[in-house]
Amino acid sequence: MPHPYVLLSAAVSLDGYLDDTGPERLVLSGPADFDRVDEVRASVDAILIGAGTLRTDNPRLLVNSPGRRAARVAAGRPEYPLKVTVSTSGDLDPGALFWHTGGEKVVYTTDRGAERACEAGIAADVVPLGPEVDWRRLLEHLHDERGVRRLMVEGGGIVHTQLIQQQLADELQLVLAPLFVGDPGAPRLFGPGAYQGGRLRLVETRAIGDVVLMRYEPTAPGSGRLASPADRHWLRMACELAERCPPSATAFSVGALVVAADGTELARGYSREGGDPVVHAEEAALAKVDGADPRLPGATVYSSLEPCARRASRPRPCARLILDAGVRRVVTAWREPDTFVEAADGAGVLAAGGAETVVLPEYEERAKAPNRHLLG
Ligand SMILES: NC(=O)c1ccc[n+]([C@@H]2O[C@H](COP(=O)([O-])OP(=O)(O)OC[C@H]3O[C@@H](n4cnc5c(N)ncnc54)[C@H](OP(=O)(O)O)[C@@H]3O)[C@@H](O)[C@H]2O)c1
Ligand SMILES: [Zn+2]
Repeated sequence: MPHPYVLLSAAVSLDGYLDDTGPERLVLSGPADFDRVDEVRASVDAILIGAGTLRTDNPRLLVNSPGRRAARVAAGRPEYPLKVTVSTSGDLDPGALFWHTGGEKVVYTTDRGAERACEAGIAADVVPLGPEVDWRRLLEHLHDERGVRRLMVEGGGIVHTQLIQQQLADELQLVLAPLFVGDPGAPRLFGPGAYQGGRLRLVETRAIGDVVLMRYEPTAPGSGRLASPADRHWLRMACELAERCPPSATAFSVGALVVAADGTELARGYSREGGDPVVHAEEAALAKVDGADPRLPGATVYSSLEPCARRASRPRPCARLILDAGVRRVVTAWREPDTFVEAADGAGVLAAGGAETVVLPEYEERAKAPNRHLLG
């Protein structure tokens, strides 16, 4: 199911707090960083905060720069991004600035929360999502019903923690402010619980006045049929590898990676790599991993094209090599067409061997690009 791109944005103290416990909101970043946040807001379709932040901070969540608002309008977008909040209880103050500034607003809540919010006269579209609020349903609703393609999440900690732990965040923009809070009762950015995978990927650092912006992307593969944001990153990389294949008039150009459950890349490969005229991408990648590596059963193979089910040039097709390596999860962009073999069904071979294949069709065009000459 399609989701918006989810960008988490937060500022923390050196000791990892989002705020102190005083009545006023703690100012963590400076004017230059507020301007950067304004720019990010202007770039998104919607901004989401948890009801806790709404109650504590009473934020407006506007695009403050008139120039940026004018540019949005000139581009045919609403002047302000959609404002979104999420609440189980429906305990929302109808007088909060959130409802009375900016553009459209939507509240995702439970059935009981919706009754309460409506009784309170909340000036927003109130969407009940059943007995509890499921983040995947919320994101699908934003995508399908509200046309949201880029969502910025501005906290607080409860919301950020859930989105990271459920592998729904595409990016984290974290600002580190040079001050201490020192109060264990203050809210933290990330709370306890199960985090998937190991290290995130650092994609940028930037000094902005006396604060530092760090941008991270998660690296952990999804599980089973559930795709994670990192799945898209790795599949995109497989498509880039496919571009490196020596050209062929008789075989596909494919890229592949093997990635452990903690997001560590174990190997990569591409078709005809190293001058071998028949080697396939998955085969080239798997050949670089020690067959006894204990990470293989939890690993995911990313292949720009569905692994082959039959081939003339080798005794074992790639779907079999993957199963024999112990891998039980494959993510691909494109099912194999009948160009070289009839009724190719690598996913079927994988399923029969107990492995899941996830197809992300949004990468199909990229995977096909180096193979145009074969597709007629
Ligand atoms: N430094 C920063 O960048 C930054 C940014 C934002 C906020 N903050 C600070 O963070 C603090 C507030 O954060 P917080 O962690 O207490 O609260 P929060 O994450 O803003 O909101 C938590 C609330 O959101 C609702 N919620 C969360 N997950 C939900 C789900 N799956 N389904 C339905 N409702 C859900 C619940 O509302 P109900 O209780 O209504 O059910 C929950 O109590 C404030 O002190 C604020 O200043 C700092
Ligand atoms: Zn193959």
